[in-house]
Amino acid sequence: LLAAAALTAMAAPMAYAADLDGRVLKIGTDATYPPMETVDETTGQIVGFDVDVMNAICEKVNCVPNFVNTAWDGIFAALQQGEFDLVISGVSITPEREETMDFSEPYIVVSQAILLQVDNADMTLEDFKAGGQKLAAQTGTTNAQLAEDLVGRENVSLYDNFSAAILALQNADVQGVIIDGTSAAAYEQEFAGALTVGITGLQSDPLGIVFQEGDATVDAINEGLAAIKADGTLDKLVSNYWGT
Ligand code: ARG
Repeated sequence: LLAAAALTAMAAPMAYAADLDGRVLKIGTDATYPPMETVDETTGQIVGFDVDVMNAICEKVNCVPNFVNTAWDGIFAALQQGEFDLVISGVSITPEREETMDFSEPYIVVSQAILLQVDNADMTLEDFKAGGQKLAAQTGTTNAQLAEDLVGRENVSLYDNFSAAILALQNADVQGVIIDGTSAAAYEQEFAGALTVGITGLQSDPLGIVFQEGDATVDAINEGLAAIKADGTLDKLVSNYWGT
């Protein structure tokens, strides 16, 4: 239902030789994206599924994740300027992004969804297309792109982050938010009775960990990722976050 499916390894057991020698990895993430990455209000720590995935990978290939909260706008420029060793931030693997950056193998596949107000739970894409109703998304995401494709640019409102888009939905400044289904589920739970996942079955995106083009670190991270797929760690994390 939530379309969160961990990709299980198909290969026979193999040796995981990669060893990053305890290297500290500076990791850029836009921690405004439940349940992938958010700032825990009590501890101030960045927490979430992506954090758990990176911790599990580093346990396999001997690295130390150091998460840095950063705005989505500019996150890839910062990576390319060497400000981060990698980015994990619910990032969809797309052909355009692959032109300028390198991705790990996918660690999850998510299907996009539209959050609606419970009172308008029967709204359809046709209603948005007809005009007068706004569909919101975060600027520079695959969600924003899909929104424009589905309902037309003139019916889309863009926000710097999804927290702002969700607030706009609560205030009825917009009538829907298009977002990865994994996060739609989290918001539906957080705002139960007010917001609901109303439109599903949209485009699926594989999510990956992002590196500067040509950075060999991706090979070690891919070995760690294969290891957490093979031993069931990744599946366990997926079920911790999304049930099933
Ligand atoms: N998967 C979408 C994309 O890559 C949205 C990711 C948004 N992530 C975030 N931390 N705000 O475009």
